[in-house]
Amino acid sequence: MGLNIILLGPPGAGKGTQAKLLIDRFGIPQISTGDILRAAVKDRTSSGIRAKKFMDDGALVPDDIVISIISDRLKMSDSVNGFILDGFPRTVAQADALSTMLDDSGKSIDHVISITVDYDELIKRVIGRLTCKSCGRGYHIVFDPPSVPGVCTLCSGELCQRDDDREDTMRARLLTYESQTAPLIAYYSSLGFLRPVDGLGSIQEINGALVSLLEG
Ligand code: AP5
Repeated sequence: MGLNIILLGPPGAGKGTQAKLLIDRFGIPQISTGDILRAAVKDRTSSGIRAKKFMDDGALVPDDIVISIISDRLKMSDSVNGFILDGFPRTVAQADALSTMLDDSGKSIDHVISITVDYDELIKRVIGRLTCKSCGRGYHIVFDPPSVPGVCTLCSGELCQRDDDREDTMRARLLTYESQTAPLIAYYSSLGFLRPVDGLGSIQEINGALVSLLEG
């Protein structure tokens, strides 16, 4: 039932950029735990207050917080025809919890897309990233610049840099990815879901590869 996709990949691989392009193509929502957590930090909710220190350190937020976020989010009516999970799951415990949630609601994963990009390129992408404060559209100062510096081309909102996009925090995030999230590649490969995609190339080229894979 529906098209249920997981986008897996290290920080800066292009998960958020590609998820936003797939929303319109397939009419299904992007569910980004990073976006939901940043909103919770901004609103100073109890989860946001607990999560902030982990995010600032480039570590993972505890599983109980993110599993509860996803459990609530998947119950919303907009994911009835499918969803694009961006940044979840990130640990084997999260993957097991997702599997239980989907089983309980009669759903299953259709594709786990693993986007691969070398670490030097990831660091360049993340430290040059800008995000619109109003609509969330992402940019890159070199690879995907806005028409007017500092201003969102879509909605004229103000562009800002994420707190965790400093080079030292990014290096910590990459180590976290290696130790806790990369094991999911073998996890989903053994279940037969894994679809690797080379994330080096233009944003449109990667989008073309994803669409052919999902429609193929
Ligand atoms: P999250 O927000 O999920 O960050 P992330 O996984 O580190 O991923 P990014 O958002 O940095 O990268 P992306 O792959 O989406 O790349 P993007 O498309 O933006 O998580 C943040 C934090 O929240 C975590 O560190 C953790 O603390 C916590 N958290 C979140 N989920 C969690 C979970 N499940 N469990 C526990 N903790 C959790 O692209 C990056 C840049 O590159 C942009 O500037 C873009 O314009 C550019 N770009 C994209 N594609 C290309 C291309 N093909 N060529 C050139 N440039 C490109």
